[in-house]
Amino acid sequence: MKIDGKTRTCGLIGNPVEHTLSPVIHNNLAQMSGTNLVYVPFLVQEGGLAEAVKGAYQLNILGMNVTVPYKSDVIPYLKEIDALAENIGAVNTLVRCEGGYKGYNTDMSGLFRAMQTEGIHIKDENVLLLGAGGAARAVAYLCASAGAKKIIVCNRTVEKAQEIVREMKIQMEETDIVALALSDVGTLAEESFLAVQCTSVGLYPNVEDVVLADGEIYDRIHTGVDLIYRPYETQFMKLVKAHGGKTMNGLKMLLYQGIIAYELWNQCDVTEEQAEPLLQKMKEEMGIYE
Ligand code: ATR
Repeated sequence: MKIDGKTRTCGLIGNPVEHTLSPVIHNNLAQMSGTNLVYVPFLVQEGGLAEAVKGAYQLNILGMNVTVPYKSDVIPYLKEIDALAENIGAVNTLVRCEGGYKGYNTDMSGLFRAMQTEGIHIKDENVLLLGAGGAARAVAYLCASAGAKKIIVCNRTVEKAQEIVREMKIQMEETDIVALALSDVGTLAEESFLAVQCTSVGLYPNVEDVVLADGEIYDRIHTGVDLIYRPYETQFMKLVKAHGGKTMNGLKMLLYQGIIAYELWNQCDVTEEQAEPLLQKMKEEMGIYE
């Protein structure tokens, strides 16, 4: 990689940032397309977000990704915000604009594009959403936008699921969305589900844990998407597979959120042919060889 006076800088702001795979995505994309751009992680300490965003602008930084814990906190420091990101209430990508940055949410468009490449569709599906945190809320919004037949928000704490349902009914009143306690999942009448696992249960190192205990419900999950990618195959995915379902983990979502951010920064289109080797490099970085 040649760095000179014309090199543009992009980066990731978050805390922690040490384990990020995003540099693999962006630096390889830049190299593959001959773009003079470098992507680096920036650790931002608690209380330093406003100055970090201001400083990035003054340093002529082209764009940034935003990760935990700043995806919502960054919103007041933006010059503009994309409508989807505003509705979701979370921003993971900043794109330089006149006087500051415009915020986008490419996590959800990334998940959608990743699912498409796997032949997993949301339209007309009964979506069983597991969890009711920030990730589940965003996925609920994606599913409603993408024409799901019905969305069932299923959470240990049912009140949090009810809160998502209430918000969604205000934003997208046509949506058929209901809340359910995780313990009542057996009462569901639908015969077939696309399930999206949006909790932190099963995340490394607690790889044996699963939010939805093994049972009859798995016979009705034709596809199980887990937003987790460490481990590469979660216990939830193992159970879906064991009951004959198809699975996808969160690594392609991570890849495509990065690709969409890269496209926004560089005003270009990244092809499937370019995406494929990037996924391989991300897997290698994780120590997965298959
Ligand atoms: P994020 O914003 O990343 O989605 P979060 O807001 O911390 O994360 O939400 C975590 C989700 O995982 C919640 O749905 C949480 O359920 P509760 O609302 O009942 O707390 C779910 N979760 C975490 N640990 C869980 C466990 N052991 N069993 C069931 N659900 C769990």
